[in-house]
Amino acid sequence: MAMEIDVFTLFPEWFEWFACQRHVRNVLARGSRLECVNFRDHTPLSGGQGDDTPFGGGAGMLLRVDVVEGALRARYAADPVDLRERRRVIALTPGGRMLDDALARELAAEPALTLLCGRYEGFDERILEHFCSDRLSIGRYVLAGGELAAMVVCDAVLRKLPGALGDESSSSEESFSEALDGGPEYPHYTRPAEHRGWRVPEVLLSGHHERIGEWRRERSRERAQAQREPGER
Ligand code: ADE
Repeated sequence: MAMEIDVFTLFPEWFEWFACQRHVRNVLARGSRLECVNFRDHTPLSGGQGDDTPFGGGAGMLLRVDVVEGALRARYAADPVDLRERRRVIALTPGGRMLDDALARELAAEPALTLLCGRYEGFDERILEHFCSDRLSIGRYVLAGGELAAMVVCDAVLRKLPGALGDESSSSEESFSEALDGGPEYPHYTRPAEHRGWRVPEVLLSGHHERIGEWRRERSRERAQAQREPGER
């Protein structure tokens, strides 16, 4: 399954590093696409301006609705008001729906995503109201822009696609997955089997797959229980 992701941003160069990472390259090599559109290339304003000060005063800058409309029209040759009917157009904003594993899975099942990165908290409200199908947050804190949040979304989504991790089974039984009833992951160990007297649990060295599976599910349940009871670990 291949996916097309378009990221609209004032800082496309941020994504050059991200696109070079192994798991991302793995997915791109299998036919998926990750491309950036620079808002500045489509602004009707001089000097590549894409953001502006808020009406009514206040701190910070906002992404302009005419700039976003220009960029979406140039990319998709369509009215952005209609676009969101046939494509997930997602604004990254701290007040949006919180990203979790279920949402990452939902997005990974889409053929195409459009991610819009604002400045600070910043979109002109009309962008959210008329052009976007979703508003998505990676946490209740304000980043300097949506770029890092978009990378987090891309990372969480792309690693769910076949081939990302090199091993087809690796993302199906990880933290918060259905295989673990949405619970946190069990503890992992690698060589050496002993370090400073700290032994790896014997069951993991036993080669007994059924018992290992049982042990892992039990640890995952314990961790879920501990998370429900604050103060306990
Ligand atoms: N843009 C700025 N802060 C953000 C956040 N926490 N989540 C998503 N987008 C953002």
